[in-house]
Amino acid sequence: MMPVSTISISPLSEADIPGAVDAIQKAFADDPYNLWVYNDRSKLNLNRNRVSLGIRCRWGIRNALFHVAKDPSSDEKDKVLGIAMWMPPRPTELKETWGEWWEGWKLWFQQVGMNAWYGRGGLNVKRYYIWKQRQAEAQSEIWTDPKGYYFCNIIVVLPEQQGKGIGRALFQEVTKKADEEGRRCYLESSRDEPKTKIYEAMGFHFVKQMDCDDDGDVCKLYCMVREPRSPL
Ligand SMILES: CC(C)(COP(=O)(O)OP(=O)(O)OC[C@H]1O[C@@H](n2cnc3c(N)ncnc32)[C@H](O)[C@@H]1OP(=O)(O)O)[C@@H](O)C(=O)NCCC(=O)NCCS
Repeated sequence: MMPVSTISISPLSEADIPGAVDAIQKAFADDPYNLWVYNDRSKLNLNRNRVSLGIRCRWGIRNALFHVAKDPSSDEKDKVLGIAMWMPPRPTELKETWGEWWEGWKLWFQQVGMNAWYGRGGLNVKRYYIWKQRQAEAQSEIWTDPKGYYFCNIIVVLPEQQGKGIGRALFQEVTKKADEEGRRCYLESSRDEPKTKIYEAMGFHFVKQMDCDDDGDVCKLYCMVREPRSPL
């Protein structure tokens, strides 16, 4: 295993976006959720997908805890090896702010503009809304902690860099903070094996299976929670 000490984790910047999009596309190429929601592969438009992910990344820079892993000791010190995007916890008593409300609409308008320009690019809209619905139900059932949850929305490591401790380093950037604050973390894994094992190694445990069922074609997702640990 490459010593983790050579990996640096920093906030993701605009210049990292092409590398981040590349890492997401490569790591998710054979992901079960990706294959389910983009089921008509003949319509898949990777260019449209790059624009969509770019919009999402810019939104993430402004609204999420968004980190990038690099190896400063390597020849390609600026190369994006992996990224993690987390939604910050929202304590139940806090309402959405005007700024957050505006950011949500801005994202929506940009995506509508993108769809007008590129079309849906193979995205199965019905399935996308089935997933959104199941996700909202799962989260309202599981998210009972009034302090809110750090929600790991995206975590990817370039396929050739996986299994070297980069995912762990990305996770720890936020789990450390969650432990200090005594907060729980949450994620939805799209694969039972090996991902739930990897997430168990990060301190998460399985809580619920989410079945996104489109007339019998089911995408299973695995909801996992991590309890805060008392800092050493
Ligand atoms: C999931 C992912 C982010 C993990 O990153 P990674 O850099 O490969 O993970 P690490 O090398 O840091 O390993 C993390 C832990 O999982 C364990 N692990 C790694 N691969 C494993 C496998 N195939 N089976 C079981 N455990 C495994 C490691 O032993 C390590 O635990 P340890 O530190 O206690 O030894 C990465 O594999 C990935 O990008 N996968 C594809 C994209 C994806 O599905 N992302 C998640 C959806 S949002």
